[in-house]
Amino acid sequence: MAKTICMASAKGGAGKTILTATFASFLTALGKKVIVIDTDASTNGLTLMYLKEVLLTEEVFIGKSKQPLGTFEFDATKHSPDYIGLVTLPNGVLFLPAAFRFTNTEAANLEQFRSTLKNLIHIYSKYADYIFLDAQAGSDNFAAVSMSRNISDQVIIVSEYDPLSAAGIERLKALFREDLNYGRTWILLNKMLPDFVQSFSSFLEVAKYLSPVPWDADVVRSYAKKKLALDMENGNDFTLSIVQTMRGLLGDEIEKEVSSWLSEKSASLREPIDIQINDLKTNLEMLQKQKLEAQKLSYRKSMFSNISNMAIVVVAFGTAVTFATKFLTKFDTTERVIVLGMVTTALIGLIISIISKSLEFRASKNELDDEKISSHMNSMISRLDKLESLRSGSIEALIKANRTS
Ligand SMILES: Nc1ncnc2c1ncn2[C@@H]1O[C@H](COP(=O)(O)OP(=O)(O)OP(=O)(O)O)[C@@H](O)[C@H]1O
Ligand SMILES: [Mg+2]
Repeated sequence: MAKTICMASAKGGAGKTILTATFASFLTALGKKVIVIDTDASTNGLTLMYLKEVLLTEEVFIGKSKQPLGTFEFDATKHSPDYIGLVTLPNGVLFLPAAFRFTNTEAANLEQFRSTLKNLIHIYSKYADYIFLDAQAGSDNFAAVSMSRNISDQVIIVSEYDPLSAAGIERLKALFREDLNYGRTWILLNKMLPDFVQSFSSFLEVAKYLSPVPWDADVVRSYAKKKLALDMENGNDFTLSIVQTMRGLLGDEIEKEVSSWLSEKSASLREPIDIQINDLKTNLEMLQKQKLEAQKLSYRKSMFSNISNMAIVVVAFGTAVTFATKFLTKFDTTERVIVLGMVTTALIGLIISIISKSLEFRASKNELDDEKISSHMNSMISRLDKLESLRSGSIEALIKANRTS
């Protein structure tokens, strides 16, 4: 048995049509069977939103020598149910438009509308999980039928968050006291400024509230392209707020599906983060190795430089002693050998010194490289910390990060 939910509002433009389409799409994506009926005689909002699909369905019907009929054209006393023109939307939702022809739907017969709606719900109930009615704004007769207890199981009054809208709901509830009782009526505040959402206080006393839907630029942008901002693939703020609202409305009926969707989303959003974390760790290990190598090299060079300095000192000292001795005694063969040896040693010392100086220069260059590697490693470590805390964070944070990356 399907649950029939009527989306109503005291004032026009509150967001019934968009939220009806969004809820239906959300539940269908979770695997539920959903039928949406446009019962708005005044604006036919959903029918206009899905006009392309409605016209395509009409062509198919006419090909079968039938004129499909919408909510305000179907007359249960005259037509058989196979004239009901259910449109399959690309997202899998089944949709009954207000009308297939451009007729004045407000001129439809109210009793016919009532009995048609009752019949349609009876027929659809057998194979749908949820039936949504997109009602007309305000308190006129068509809206009253859709909201009535013998048509819908629950009514969601969509409203903006301002005193006039609050007064409008009070009026609606006073007019339909029995139909809009506490047990079957929800208030859904839509287009709320995000800062109000955090701290809103009930603006009606005895009322049940669903989790409010914030004002969201994505909704406006998508609507301009006749699309929904709902994104079940990558998620976004709007989708997360719809999850909350739907959980409040349907609770256990959808909890299993919502939880598995959320964990599937978290896993798929964590996957690229895991790859980045692994890459960063590998790069860090490589840099660590390079740093160690650079340190070893610089140590070896400084050792070599010390030895060569000592050699220079010894040679210089030896040469000085030899020349001093020369001034006191005459040269003989041994002296010549000594002097030759000293000169040779001095030359070797000089060469070692030159090599050592060049190595010292390279060592100082290595120190610079070492600094560069360290600062690079530090920035990689702080990026790694951020990624690891994002990975273990909430689905909201993951979705936000995914959208900004
Ligand atoms: N959460 C939201 N954030 C931003 N804009 C929104 C939001 N919800 C609805 N809107 C905007 O409000 C406008 C009216 O929406 P919609 O047509 O769904 O209202 P409605 O209640 O069905 O109106 P009507 O009473 O005329 O049938 C649209 O322009 C839509 O883009
Ligand atoms: Mg509408």
